[in-house]
Amino acid sequence: MKRRFENKVVLVTGAAGGIGLAIARAFASEGAKVMLADRDSAKLHAAEQLLRQEGGDVASVVVDVTDYSDCQKMVAAVVQRFNALDIACNNAGVPSPIAPFEEQSLLQWQRVMDVNLNGIFHCMKAQVPALRESGGTAIINTASVTSHLAFAGMAGYVASKHGVAGLTKASALDLIGYGIRVNAVAPGFIETPMLAPALEGEDGRAFFDARAPIGRIGRAEEVASCVLFLASAEASYVVGAVLNVDGGMALT
Ligand SMILES: NC(=O)c1ccc[n+]([C@@H]2O[C@H](COP(=O)([O-])OP(=O)(O)OC[C@H]3O[C@@H](n4cnc5c(N)ncnc54)[C@H](O)[C@@H]3O)[C@@H](O)[C@H]2O)c1
Repeated sequence: MKRRFENKVVLVTGAAGGIGLAIARAFASEGAKVMLADRDSAKLHAAEQLLRQEGGDVASVVVDVTDYSDCQKMVAAVVQRFNALDIACNNAGVPSPIAPFEEQSLLQWQRVMDVNLNGIFHCMKAQVPALRESGGTAIINTASVTSHLAFAGMAGYVASKHGVAGLTKASALDLIGYGIRVNAVAPGFIETPMLAPALEGEDGRAFFDARAPIGRIGRAEEVASCVLFLASAEASYVVGAVLNVDGGMALT
């Protein structure tokens, strides 16, 4: 097993389950000290316990990424616990209810933009001073195949994820002078709690398997391994990329 991140300090948001937990687990298994952050305190503490039982050097902090001062406290908690911040993974996100445009409410629009786009801005804004202070090298945001593609009934989610791609690219230009590479992963359909309701029923899984040219839904670990690549020295010349992890979906 490679241990590319020995003693590196990594922060992962949305780490209580799904893709975020897979990212946290992958970093911990390669020797990183990992701060798990999430809004759901019960699931967060269960995830922390799980990774600790697996031998990970981990801690956790409850955060609501829609609240900038909460994000500042989250970063302060990382520095207090591990004395540095080397790598930040901004992954927390929510789906939006699927509905025709006229039925989508202002509240639904605001909620999805607040978590998926403003949340990443809040996290990055709070993280950059600590990354600079520590000589940190990477920010990886979780975008989506909907950063490139559009689906009917999902205007808020699609707009938020297009925004994450734009924020990633523009901030990559602003931050590369500090030695911080900003990149994103763009997952296709991945089997996580977010997708669980849609996977129920006979046709659910078959629909998602058929949607990706590779012929199956993705696994959270397959996204995590790409996040680790982007964070690693192997990606030292990768700046502002939005890396598709979607079994070929963005090509269709
Ligand atoms: N699963 C997929 O098919 C898929 C596809 C493309 C992109 N994504 C993106 O991947 C990321 C992770 O999604 P997932 O599938 O693992 O979903 P998930 O629901 O399993 O995990 C998301 C986590 O984010 C947390 N969260 C939500 N709002 C938060 C807030 N305001 N503050 C802090 N934490 C908050 C949740 O509590 C949850 O633990 C999201 O950004 C999602 O949009 C997922």
